[in-house]
Amino acid sequence: MKLTYYGHACFMLETKEASILFDPFIKPNQLASHISIEDLKPDYILLTHGHEDHVADAEEIARMSGATIVSNYEIVSWYGAKGLEKLWPMNHGGKHAFDFGTVRYVNAVHSSTLPDGSGGGNPGGFIIEADGKRIYFAGDTALHLDMELIGRYWRPDVAILPIGDNFTMGVEDAIICSDMIDCYDVVGMHFDTFPFIEINKEEAIEAFRSNDKKLSLMKIGESKEV
Ligand code: NI
Ligand code: MN
Repeated sequence: MKLTYYGHACFMLETKEASILFDPFIKPNQLASHISIEDLKPDYILLTHGHEDHVADAEEIARMSGATIVSNYEIVSWYGAKGLEKLWPMNHGGKHAFDFGTVRYVNAVHSSTLPDGSGGGNPGGFIIEADGKRIYFAGDTALHLDMELIGRYWRPDVAILPIGDNFTMGVEDAIICSDMIDCYDVVGMHFDTFPFIEINKEEAIEAFRSNDKKLSLMKIGESKEV
């Protein structure tokens, strides 16, 4: 599968059957000013939680592309009230087989208010199974013990984890998480977008390396095979 980074917590995962966009926050992100959302043609938009820095461009991209929005029931209903029709609600612990593979909505410890103050349900993450691989997209989350379940039952090949600290896990906790979920190959997200979450990237990569893990910090617009 091909993974492309669009800044902050936004990635596109291209499977054999479908393109899946996570947490689009591109237009308001000055670091991603060279990315134009018109070029994105996802089949699905997966939203971990309701915060502006995860949903900012979702409505516009959904209208342009005809993508199906997948998120928790409250967030999906919020888009339904805006007139969007291609929606798939989930909630924690549930999984669904889509045409490209399986999506499981898992726990995250965070908050989830939508940009207009509406309740965005509880925040989550996703475990995607497609093309013989498992990807854990953690969303914004603290380190929490339910991650042990992921290591015990769903050991992901690749984990996309927040590392920016302050609002989410930082590097130290993301390393502990990668041990709990039994994953070597980590892609970092949710860093450097705002002054609150600026990190030292070389130190982060070295910290993972000294714990026998690999941290990839992709450039915005860069793709890699996963
Ligand atoms: Ni958030
Ligand atoms: Mn966030």
